[in-house]
Amino acid sequence: MTNEGTALDGMGSERRSHTCGSIDRSMVDQEVVVAGWVHRRRDHGGVIFVDLRDRSGVVQVVFRPETSTRAHERAGGLRSEWVIMARGVVEARSSDTVNSRMKTGEIEINVHEIRILNSATPPPFAIEEDAGADEAVRLRHRIHDLRRPPLQRSLTIRHELSRAMRAVLIDQGFIEIETPMLARATPEGARDFLVPSRLQAGSFYALPQSPQIMKQLLMVAGFERYFQIARCFRDEDQRADRQLEFTQVDLEMSFVGVEDVLEVLEIIMVESAREAVGVELQRPFPQMSYADAMARYGCDRPDTRILLELVDMTEIFAGSEFKSFRGVVDNGGIVKCLPVHNAEEISRSEIDRLEKFVRKELGAKGLGWVRVDAEGEWRSPIAKFLSDEERAAITERSGAGPGSLLFFQADEFERANAILSRLRIDLGEKLGRTDGREWDALFVVDFPLFEKDEKGQLGYVHQPFVAPLEEDIPLLETEPEKVRGTHYDVIMNGVELGSGSLRNHRVDIQRRILGLMGYTSEEAEKSFGFMLEALEVGAPPHGGFAFGFDRMVMVLAKADSLRDVVAFPKTQRGQDLLMEAPSPVDSEQLEELSIRVRVPKPE
Ligand code: AMO
Ligand code: AMP
Repeated sequence: MTNEGTALDGMGSERRSHTCGSIDRSMVDQEVVVAGWVHRRRDHGGVIFVDLRDRSGVVQVVFRPETSTRAHERAGGLRSEWVIMARGVVEARSSDTVNSRMKTGEIEINVHEIRILNSATPPPFAIEEDAGADEAVRLRHRIHDLRRPPLQRSLTIRHELSRAMRAVLIDQGFIEIETPMLARATPEGARDFLVPSRLQAGSFYALPQSPQIMKQLLMVAGFERYFQIARCFRDEDQRADRQLEFTQVDLEMSFVGVEDVLEVLEIIMVESAREAVGVELQRPFPQMSYADAMARYGCDRPDTRILLELVDMTEIFAGSEFKSFRGVVDNGGIVKCLPVHNAEEISRSEIDRLEKFVRKELGAKGLGWVRVDAEGEWRSPIAKFLSDEERAAITERSGAGPGSLLFFQADEFERANAILSRLRIDLGEKLGRTDGREWDALFVVDFPLFEKDEKGQLGYVHQPFVAPLEEDIPLLETEPEKVRGTHYDVIMNGVELGSGSLRNHRVDIQRRILGLMGYTSEEAEKSFGFMLEALEVGAPPHGGFAFGFDRMVMVLAKADSLRDVVAFPKTQRGQDLLMEAPSPVDSEQLEELSIRVRVPKPE
C-alpha cells in the first residue's frame, strides 16, 4: 500500500454542508460534511480525535476503525494545519466527555469518509490564543499568526465596524467619494511618501497624508456631505498607535457649526460601537477644553476613568529659595504636582525606581516628592528647601494629609505635563484608582490655533485650514497666539480616535492666517494657490472630521497595538517582514524613472 496518509484527494469539489462552529446538539444523527484545518490530533490507541478548525470555530471529528478502517488509517497520517474534508454523523458525547469550554463541546462527528485536500509544513508556533512566540517571528509568519483567534477576532471586529460606520454615514446623508492616491505634497505636518513620475521626469507625486484638501474642494463643489474610508500615508516614526499607512473614516459637511459636527460624530460612535461590538456608549459625550485637559491631566487625550489629577504649583515657587524649581519658573517653565492620597503602599524603593524611570525614559531632571507620614511629618528630599508658607500653600492646593505622596515636576510646560501625565496613568492603574467604567468617550475642544516654534514664529497646531473661533477672530490682529481654533478631538480610553475642525471658508481669513505663519503672498500662492482659488469660487462654510479607523478598532478590540488590528502591518522600522518590503529595485526600473540612487554608507 502507498503511504495513504500523504496522498492528496483531488480538488475537493464536494460541497461542505456545515461550518465547524455551527454544529450543535440539535443535529445529532444527521450526516454532515465539514472542512477545515487540523487544529490538533490525538491518537488514543485505536481511536483518533481531530479538532477541526474553520473560521467559525472548532469541532471534534473522530476516526474509529470500526466505523471506517480506511478513514481511520488515513487519519493516522494527518499533521497540524493539514486541510481536510470529512463526512460523518453527528453524535452526542457521553456526559463524561462533554467539553464545556468548547462551543461544540457536546457533540462530535463520527467520520465515515475523509478527503485530504492538502498537506502543510509544520507551523512555526501554536495556532492558539497565545502563540508563545516573539512578534518578529509572528510577523514573518503572518499567515499562521492570522489563523490565531485574537487576529481572527480583531479583523472581524474591523469588518463589522467599517460596515456599521458606512451604514450610519449613508443613513446620515453622506455620500462616498474617492479621492486620488497619487496626489500633491501637502503641508500636513508629517513627511510625505513620494512616488516618482515616469512621464514628468524629475517630478513626484505624494501619497496623501489625508484627503484634507480634496474633501474641502468637494464641499466647494457642492456635495455637502462627503465620506470616504481612506488610506493615508505618513512617513513618521512608528509607535504602537502609529503605522506608516493607516485608514481614516474621513468626513466633511457644509453649512454646519461645531455642535452639528459633534452631534454627527456621537451618532456614528454610538451606533457603530453598538453594531460592531455590542458596546453602549452614553450620549452626550462630555466636552473638555484643551486648557482644562492639560491642567488636570497633563495631556490632550485624557483617560478620565483614572481618578488622579494634577495640580499647578508654579506660583508658589515663583519667589522660592529652592533654586532647582525657582530657576525653571524664572525661565518660563512650570511646577506641577501629582498628589496621590492614601499612598502608604508606595514604598521608598518604588519611588526611587520611578525617579530612575522618569529620568532615563522621559528626560526628567529629577523627581521631587513629599511623603506626609501618619503623624503629619514631611519626609522628603525637597522639604528642607521650602519655607513654612510654601509648605502651607502646597498642602492647601494638593489637599495633602497623613498618607499622601506628592510628586513634583519643574520643567517646560510640555515636558512637565508629559512626565506627570505618564506617572498619573501608571500609578492610577497600579493602585486601582479608577472609576470602574469600561468606556470613556469625550471631546476635547478649544485648542489654540497657533503655537510658537523655537524662533518665536507662529505655526499651526493641527493644519493651516482650521478656522478660528468666531469670537476670537479680532485677536488675529492683536494677540494671535491667544486665538483658539474650532478644532476638536474624540478621545476614547485615553486614545485620540480622531480629529477635525471647521475650516476657513473666507479667503481673507485664510490669507491672514497664512500671513501670521510667515508666508509671503507669493509663498502662499505657490503652496496653497489652488486652495485659495477654490475659496473664491463660492465656498460654503464647512467642517469635518477624520476617525483613525485602526485606532478605533484597537480600542474596541482591547488590543495593545495597531499591529494587532491590521492584517499585514509594518514593524517599528517600517518593514513588512512577510513580503520583505521595502526592497531594492532593478536598475532598469530606476533608469525609466530617471532616478539615480546613492545609498549612505552604514555608520
Ligand atoms: P489627523 O492628522 O489628526 O487629522 O488624523 C486623524 C486621525 O487619524 C489617526 N492617525 C493615525 N492612525 C494610525 N497611524 C498614524 N500614523 C496616524 N496618524 C493619524 C488618529 C488621528 O486622530 N485631515 C485631518 C482631519 C480633519 O481635520 O478632518 C487629519 O488627518 O486617530
Ligand atoms: P537638587 O536640588 O538637584 O538636589 O534636587 C533635590 C530633589 O528635587 C531631588 O529629589 C530631585 O530629584 C528633585 N528635582 C530636582 N530638579 C527637579 C525638577 N526640575 N523637577 C522635579 N524634581 C526635581
